[in-house]
Amino acid sequence: MSQKKILAVLGATGAQGGGLVRAILADPQGGFAARAITRNPDSPQARELAKLGAEVVAGDVDDEKSLERAFAGAHGVYAVTFYWAHFQPERELDEARKIAAAAKAAGVRHVVWSTLEDTRLRVPLADDRMPTLMGKYKVPHFDAKGEANRAFTEAGVPTTFLLTSFYWDNLIHFGMGPKAGADGVLAFTLPMGSAKLPGIAAGDIGGCAYGIFKRGGEFIGKTVGIAGEHLSGAEMAAALSRALGRPVRHDDVSPAAYRDFGFPGADDLGNMFQYKRDFEREFRAARDPAFARSLNPALQTFDAWLAANAARIPPA
Ligand SMILES: NC(=O)c1ccc[n+]([C@@H]2O[C@H](COP(=O)([O-])OP(=O)(O)OC[C@H]3O[C@@H](n4cnc5c(N)ncnc54)[C@H](OP(=O)(O)O)[C@@H]3O)[C@@H](O)[C@H]2O)c1
Repeated sequence: MSQKKILAVLGATGAQGGGLVRAILADPQGGFAARAITRNPDSPQARELAKLGAEVVAGDVDDEKSLERAFAGAHGVYAVTFYWAHFQPERELDEARKIAAAAKAAGVRHVVWSTLEDTRLRVPLADDRMPTLMGKYKVPHFDAKGEANRAFTEAGVPTTFLLTSFYWDNLIHFGMGPKAGADGVLAFTLPMGSAKLPGIAAGDIGGCAYGIFKRGGEFIGKTVGIAGEHLSGAEMAAALSRALGRPVRHDDVSPAAYRDFGFPGADDLGNMFQYKRDFEREFRAARDPAFARSLNPALQTFDAWLAANAARIPPA
């Protein structure tokens, strides 16, 4: 019987949780075992994790009892919710409450909660620099996570609040890669002026979370932030030019223009980039790459991520 401490991982077949499962399995002497939670243990992704050595169990963040079962006997839980699966901040808040309650019921010793800032603490709803969305949010997918922090505190579960960063993988999966303009030149749109954007390879987040679990109780009750690198739009465009072997310019539209792009969530993301621009100092200070590297020595820079992934960015 294994004496390893079990880390139960939500989103195990996805970006953040998948990175954590792989980090645990890559360190067989580390004292932890990976329990991958999925809605569908029979999916090819789940079977792949089982083949790599993870225990695969069923669980759904909308079903508290399933979470209690999935967390039973676990030392730690990696808690992440999936805003872009439903675009409903209240539902995300409810999912976080269910995770917190299930972790409490299961007697989990350490939850790492993947969160983001409640932007309304700096941009109250009455602040008209950006529109209020869905009645009571400025950046719905941030605000719900920040508001949900309280669910963990109030449930009394030992929690580390992990502030994540913009995935560079959005250039592949979220349609944010460079696009050819009317002049045929590739342009990378980032509505942040010369402000620097903390970014990270999505798969590296899990390695940082693993570093937090390995450090024991050190970060329980604390908020920690991670990023691979902080880069301006111009710096990202220059790195893209080098990696793609053709010129890429930074297209610095206004956040208002970005909100009007019209794709689902464009208003949320326009507000998000404006928040990151207007509160650049605070937002960056919360996400120190040197600290992230101390948790995860394999943390990639944007250049390193591009070297491995530029070919996966859809052609413009
Ligand atoms: N994109 C960014 O730049 C960025 C940056 C920071 C934070 N975030 C946040 O990251 C979160 C998403 O994390 P991610 O990118 O790791 O997700 P992801 O890659 O989209 O993976 C989600 C995985 O979670 C599982 N899942 C979906 N709905 C579920 C449910 N109801 N119950 C249990 N599991 C469920 C799915 O697995 P199964 O099908 O196997 O169940 C899926 O493989 C979002 O809330 C987003 O706001 C994103």
